[in-house]
Parts: sequence; C-alpha cells; structure tokens
Amino acid sequence: MSPTENQPKTSRYGQEIKFRVLRFNPEKDRRPYYQSYRLVLERGMTVLDALMQIKETQDPTLSYRKSCRMGICGSCAMYVNGLPYLACQTQVSELDSDLIVVRPLPNYPILRDVVPDLRSLFESHQAIKPYIIRQDTDEMDNPTGEFKQAPRELEDYLQFAYCIKCGACLAACPTCATDDRFTGPQALAAAYRYQVDSRDDGFEERAATEAVDGKNGLWRCHFAGACSEACPKGVDPALGIQLLKRKILARRVGGKQTAPAQLAETPTDSRPQNDIPKAPPPTVKS
Ligand code: SF4
Ligand code: SF4
Ligand code: FES
Repeated sequence: MSPTENQPKTSRYGQEIKFRVLRFNPEKDRRPYYQSYRLVLERGMTVLDALMQIKETQDPTLSYRKSCRMGICGSCAMYVNGLPYLACQTQVSELDSDLIVVRPLPNYPILRDVVPDLRSLFESHQAIKPYIIRQDTDEMDNPTGEFKQAPRELEDYLQFAYCIKCGACLAACPTCATDDRFTGPQALAAAYRYQVDSRDDGFEERAATEAVDGKNGLWRCHFAGACSEACPKGVDPALGIQLLKRKILARRVGGKQTAPAQLAETPTDSRPQNDIPKAPPPTVKS
C-alpha cells in the first residue's frame, strides 16, 4: 500500500453524497427496502457520523446501533458498499464513491433498519465457556496471589483477545449463511484463545461442548477464510479454528499432543501475509 493510499480525498469535501440505507421495521414492513438521503460530505465524516446526521436533520425514525465511536465496542458493524466495516471507523471520503449503500450485517435477523439481532453471536460465545477455567477452584474463589503469565505466553492468544464481538466474521462466513446452527468463527476463535491461555485448565470441558466438537461445531468450518478477511480488528478466526481442530484431533487420538499427519504442520495465517493487519499493541504496558 502506498503512503498516500490512505489519504482522504480532500477535493470531495463539500460535495453532495447520496446514501441508500436499508430500512425495515418488522412491525409494519413486509420486507426491507432502501431509502435514499443526500448529505454534504464534511471533513472527517465517518459513515456513522453520516447516519447520525441523517437521523438528526432528516429522518428521526432511522435506527442504527453505536456506543463508543472509537472502534472498541463493536456495536456499529455494518455492510457499506458491499463490505463489512465499523461505521465509526470508516471515513466516507475513503470509500471513493458518490453513492454509499448501507445495510445491516447479513446472516442475522434484522431488528430494525441497519440493526442486526446478534443473539446467535452471543449465544455461541457463551456456549464455548469464554472465561478462564482452573482446577484450583478454591484459589479462583479466594485468590491468594496473581495468576502470573510470561509475555511469551500472552502472545500465544493476544491477537484473538482483540476480538470486539462485532459479528462481522459471522456475516461473511459462507457456512453461517447456509447453517444457522453452526457455532461460527467468533466463538470458535475464542475457544482457541482460552485453549492456549497458560492460565486455563478448561480444554477438556470446553472441547466436550456441542458448540466446539459437536456436529455444528468446528468441523463445519471449511477454511474459506472469509471471516478473517472481514475482521476489522485484525483477528484471524480461520487460523484459530484450524489450530483448534488440531488440538481436538490430538485429544481424540488418545490425548497425545500429536496430530494426524495432515494436521501436523502448524497452519500459517490464513490470509496473504501482506494483507494481515497487525494487531494493535496492548493498551496497558507493564
Ligand atoms: S474459515 Fe470457517 S468460519 Fe471462517 S468463513 Fe470460512 S467456513 Fe466460516
Ligand atoms: S473475530 Fe473480528 S470480525 Fe469476528 S466478532 Fe471478533 S472482532 Fe468482529
Ligand atoms: S461505535 Fe463502538 S465500534 Fe463503532
């Protein structure tokens, strides 16, 4: 990517931009439809700013979801011109189009307009037991010290811990598109995240869940990699799922930490190396 590729196209500021936003109120609409709005492109305007301006000045009925406005909470993921984005992190000027088409994440029911119902995402996440499980439960309940971890051990799972649960990976996943029972990339990558956390003893408990090793679990993933392409935080769920498959296969063949030959090699990151956004540095430094 050239150094100027990310520069806003300042010449477009002040120009009128057309927005087509998907509208749907399940209480009165039989099917979704698109509604058009026009806005003057302002310096620094994000897609979320544009939606907020439409709501404030043109159409108070427009619904969207947002909270942090800084790419942290995951609330504002939506499809913009056919691709998944965090609306609060997406400059309209960088979309390089005078027509901006906004629709909710696919593969979820629509609650209203561009607000998807993310229940399936959170139910899957909950099902994989997304927390540290330890055998020393007394120490967990009444800790007498810290559960220490070396920086190298942190690196084993750090990129997966950057997931903000925006749901974009499920929206992009072809398996999720055809099977709403599939656990999905977010939860399976989270299962891997805990599996490799040096403080966790919960592999057996987690692997025994239907969500992980059941018929709708990780074996339904065909490693298409669309989830990793979609992630706005640089997480690579497809890689986590393949690494988790290897661990689960090793468990099946007698608990030995060896895997069948075809999975013996550690998969590399599922995206072309040049495309991999680096996970941001930790925000808390020791
Ligand atoms: S790699 Fe697996 S989880 Fe990711 S998009 Fe493909 S099928 Fe879905
Ligand atoms: S893995 Fe990425 S795309 Fe999926 S929910 Fe987490 S942050 Fe969003
Ligand atoms: S509003 Fe929180 S990520 Fe966009």
